[in-house]
Amino acid sequence: MSKEVRDKVGISSGFSRRNFLKTAAAAAGLSLLAGCGGGGGQAPKADEKKDPKPAAPAKEALKIGVLLPFSKVYAVLGESITQGMELYFEQVKNEAGGRKIELIKEDEENDAQASLRKTRKFIESDKVDLMTGVVNSGVALALRDVIHGAKLPFIISNAGANDLTRAKKSPYIFRSSFSNWQPNWAAGEYVYKNVAKKVYLTAPDYAAGKEQMAAFKESFTKAGGTVLGEVYPPLGNNDYAPFLAKIKEAKPEAVYCFYSGSDAVKFVKQFDEYGLRKTMKLCGAGFSFEEDVLPAQGKSALGAISGMHWAFGLDTPLNKKFLDDYKKKFNKGANVFSLQGYDTARVIVEAVNAVKGDTADKDKLVKAISAVKFDSPRGPFAFDPDTNNVVQDIYIREVKDVSGHLHNVVIATVKNVKDPGK
Ligand code: BEZ
Repeated sequence: MSKEVRDKVGISSGFSRRNFLKTAAAAAGLSLLAGCGGGGGQAPKADEKKDPKPAAPAKEALKIGVLLPFSKVYAVLGESITQGMELYFEQVKNEAGGRKIELIKEDEENDAQASLRKTRKFIESDKVDLMTGVVNSGVALALRDVIHGAKLPFIISNAGANDLTRAKKSPYIFRSSFSNWQPNWAAGEYVYKNVAKKVYLTAPDYAAGKEQMAAFKESFTKAGGTVLGEVYPPLGNNDYAPFLAKIKEAKPEAVYCFYSGSDAVKFVKQFDEYGLRKTMKLCGAGFSFEEDVLPAQGKSALGAISGMHWAFGLDTPLNKKFLDDYKKKFNKGANVFSLQGYDTARVIVEAVNAVKGDTADKDKLVKAISAVKFDSPRGPFAFDPDTNNVVQDIYIREVKDVSGHLHNVVIATVKNVKDPGK
């Protein structure tokens, strides 16, 4: 793996030539096995009796390759996206276009090389009809050429890497979640007008961290704000003290951050323990204070202001139903990642219904995906035909105590936010 790819993923890789040879041999074996028996076109045995009136053949299952993190820093995100998908699929009786839905799940491992191997397995061995998932921007960027080359319809259910729907866009790649630009660009102007004129930026040192801070900076400085400094700890970090010391020294009025999963819990708690909550406001991309991490962050997150494409406190009948259904099925609250899984499942089902289950013609299938449009618990949902990225409202939210529980409450809305596409 090149250094450039490793930096974008935010990890170091132990991938060696020996591993590569082992992997290549395993992949060759898998392809061979698929060629021997996987095709389903087996000749009938000589002694099989012929049924005079054979039943109509059952349609083959719709195979969906799901690549999500089930381990490491973003493990909870993978679990939430999966549960959101499972909730929607259950509501349509696990069927699309007359075919049973079969999920083939693989762990993204926060590792581009492992994810490439698993994507090739989806294509060559599992022969999936389409693929979804991927949380880490760097991983998603590393998979782009393989997916585009195989003409595999791929609906990204998290990774925000801007280029995947800009310079590196593909007719086969869609994003139902957000671009790294969308929530942070929307937050920039709000923070300048309502919270602080001088801020310090911090995020993990990889593609998503850099892009989210750049998007905030774009609108915040355009409005007149000043960025006093920026600091980028490694992804999956434990001790934020040296980075918090830099922030303290700069004396900003607010910090604007992006952290998610276990990083978000550690950063927000240590920010409070270090005493910074008493001297500056805490703002950021909504992932940093999202419902999946709020119970562990507790009062350290109270009052945090963020931009995001969904909010627990979004007061609409559709969101209320989604929250109730999720709670009933999983006995816990939903979060933005479960919402992304839920909407992604709906995109898949509506597109496969539109082609009546015939997924063989990939160009017809991606045309059907691009036409999917609906009212989501997040608000209106549609794909931008120029980029295949979702166009959506962005909510400015504040963490408040709602009847004894901390939740994100909507305090402003930026309507119809479309990634600029370049
Ligand atoms: C990303 O890598 O794109 C990402 C990861 C977690 C939350 C949001 C974005």
